[in-house]
Amino acid sequence: MNAPILISVGGGKGGVGKSVVAANLSAAIAELGFRTVLVDADFGAANQHTLFGIDRPGATLQALLSREVESIEAIAHPTGLSRLFLVPGVGAVPGAANISHAQKLKLMRQIRGVDADVVVIDVGAGVSFNVLDYFSLGDLRLVVTSPQLTAMQNAYCFLKASVHRFLRARAETHAQREVLKIVGSARETDRVAELRARIAEEDPSFAVALEQVTRGFGGALIGNMLEGPQQRKPLQALSRMARDFLDVDLPVAATLTMSRALHESVTRRRPLVLGHPSHAASRALRELAERLMTADVARIRELRRATIALGDDVSDEELLGVTLIDYLRRDERVRVDHAARVWVRSEERPARVRDLSASGALVEAAIEASEGDPIRLTLVGFEDRPALRGRVRHVAISGAFCGVELDDESQHVAAELLADGVPRKTSTLPPPLRAALA
Ligand SMILES: Nc1ncnc2c1ncn2[C@@H]1O[C@H](COP(=O)(O)OP(=O)(O)O)[C@@H](O)[C@H]1O
Ligand SMILES: [Mg+2]
Repeated sequence: MNAPILISVGGGKGGVGKSVVAANLSAAIAELGFRTVLVDADFGAANQHTLFGIDRPGATLQALLSREVESIEAIAHPTGLSRLFLVPGVGAVPGAANISHAQKLKLMRQIRGVDADVVVIDVGAGVSFNVLDYFSLGDLRLVVTSPQLTAMQNAYCFLKASVHRFLRARAETHAQREVLKIVGSARETDRVAELRARIAEEDPSFAVALEQVTRGFGGALIGNMLEGPQQRKPLQALSRMARDFLDVDLPVAATLTMSRALHESVTRRRPLVLGHPSHAASRALRELAERLMTADVARIRELRRATIALGDDVSDEELLGVTLIDYLRRDERVRVDHAARVWVRSEERPARVRDLSASGALVEAAIEASEGDPIRLTLVGFEDRPALRGRVRHVAISGAFCGVELDDESQHVAAELLADGVPRKTSTLPPPLRAALA
């Protein structure tokens, strides 16, 4: 059994839509074909069962914590969607939020070992260690916020607390913890890169390890309740702030507008992606699901395991290796949905190009490709251009998607294709929605 991909959903502020996003995302991932378990780890305000129309959740995490059941699978409830199960949280029991450290560790171990392809973890509000630790479980960590100033402030504080806890967790030896403490307490600035630069004076290899750890943070920002496209701007600013001050990449991976349908889906107790699959928000959530399922989780895990004992001489290769993560780079890609033909291992197949940038593409096709395979692409309607050539950088676990890194020559071709009007995904929206977004 492979360890499941863990996706945590947090964000600091209550009421910004964490649970709604977690519920819909889980459903969308299950619909992609992955066996998915949604864990309601919002101790004190657990409500995922309500979002799925489950009246009496029966055994909850409480049963696991009080040892009435042995395994998390024993309390995984069906949701009506064949591949999606819900582990209901503890809400009604007074004091349930105060679980002990030992119980927390046990539960975290159980979550990591769930027999599923994907586990989505809905963490509660606030920045308590409990919340941060469940958030840190995620290979991919989603920060949900609305564009409202207070929500974004909370999201930033949440992220900052999370990054700092993440760094502290990497300090393995007593000496390293001391270095971190001394340097940390003396700082008058918040920049993690500066913190690291000072650590480098004391312990260079530790500083490199810390850099790898922030590179492998695996974060993404989800904007919710937008009242118009202009509200993407503050979200982008938050994303830049995360990079500049906390040294983590936090691409805006999805935005959802304020919508009555989404609101009503809560009252109707059925996730929007199931009840209204063609709604714009459902489409955005499905795209997010696809995007997360094609993220390079193996790479993120590798970065987080970054070895501390690199020694003082860090080669260029090691430094170079940490700067590129496909998942983080994908943000600069233009979302398209274009018919194409691919050639890989001397087989030709129809395909769809989902993302395109001057350096790479995300391709959906029924092909058997492995990392490193040479691949060739032509876009339908652009057969007069040279084919795009490159290498497969990673293959989604489902096998249906692969990330392609383009060769140098093809990068010019891709840039020209984008400049010459490969249709953007947004231009294929139905007219009323296009008008609404204009
Ligand atoms: N995009 C949206 N448009 C309209 N209402 C929304 C949207 N997202 C969330 N809501 C509403 O906000 C409420 C709070 O969302 P919830 O997911 O429970 O927040 P959190 O888990 O962050 O506390 C939901 O009950 C829902 O009615
Ligand atoms: Mg919630």
